[in-house]
Amino acid sequence: MINIDVAIGLQLGDEGKGKIVHALCQRANGYYTHVLRFNGGGNAGHTIYRDGVKFVTHQIPSGILSGIRSVIGPGCVVNPDKLLIEARDLESKGIDVSNKLRIAYNAHVVLPSHLEEDAKDTTIGTTKTGNGPAYRDKYTRIGKRAEDIDSLKPFLIDMHTEFYDKHSNNRILAEGAQGFWLDIDQGNYPYVTSSHCGVGGVLLNGFSHKHLQMIYGIAKPYETYVGALKYEGSDPMFEKIRQVGKEFGATTGRPRQINWLNLDLLEKATAMNGVQYMFMNKMDILREVDVWKLNHHSEIMDLKNETDFKKYVKASLPEVFIEFSGNPNGF
Ligand code: IMP
Ligand code: MG
Repeated sequence: MINIDVAIGLQLGDEGKGKIVHALCQRANGYYTHVLRFNGGGNAGHTIYRDGVKFVTHQIPSGILSGIRSVIGPGCVVNPDKLLIEARDLESKGIDVSNKLRIAYNAHVVLPSHLEEDAKDTTIGTTKTGNGPAYRDKYTRIGKRAEDIDSLKPFLIDMHTEFYDKHSNNRILAEGAQGFWLDIDQGNYPYVTSSHCGVGGVLLNGFSHKHLQMIYGIAKPYETYVGALKYEGSDPMFEKIRQVGKEFGATTGRPRQINWLNLDLLEKATAMNGVQYMFMNKMDILREVDVWKLNHHSEIMDLKNETDFKKYVKASLPEVFIEFSGNPNGF
């Protein structure tokens, strides 16, 4: 038996996926046998607080912090040197990585030449982690895969053997990176990442749709974006949200551009991914700023207070169960 739950970002990344995935692992209390990263690479930055200690993971699935077998799937790209640094750092904080981390042999690899090339990017505003060039070489069929790298050999698995060959129950939490509107096909091309950030991206790692169970979507009550596009609106509140919300990149430190929640895009993202359950994080940030605006039908709505804001969002997404969270360390 294989059951797959999915947790994806519904905006432009940085919705707090790391926190939610960690909380889902804890809340499920031993239910999950695997956490799977299914897209992206070192461009992601998942910030997680565990018992008051801060962890930032980039390539290693957040499940590692809960002692769950954590798989980097073939839809990802892997930077071997950075991965081993991340693994050692987690090991030094008492996390068991060597027994828990596994990498699909057919995941592609970020090479030093990819990093050099990405470092020169000025048009997209990439994270300069070599993602785009690595995916390009994969599709040009000149890439190297994890199986070609000696230092990764101890971690390698075959997805079919891992999940389909055994007469065991596999219960997987698939952890997305970036967000649906950064998806290579669905996002605002070319200001997108080079991988598939939605539910479809999970299946591309070698799974049948039959196994999909719960689709979790993660959002914030405002929007943030990092990249070359001019994105931020002119409201003076955006600077306040940036400061209060500490909206600076976990991978690059860049200030994130802010806008009001785009409910039109959120409706589309939940529909196109079949989201049943949405977490809206960072309610505490808007509470501190105390301005409850959002964008709906291409107009700015100015709602009176938090209660009205929640009511409005719920009424606009009647098919989605919504859990609002204003606690940076948990639900
Ligand atoms: P790349 O994925 O590094 O090629 O960057 C492409 C675009 O996606 C840029 O606008 C990045 O800032 C954005 N991006 C990539 N990863 C993340 C992420 O984890 N959070 C937020 N934005 C991201
Ligand atoms: Mg991030």
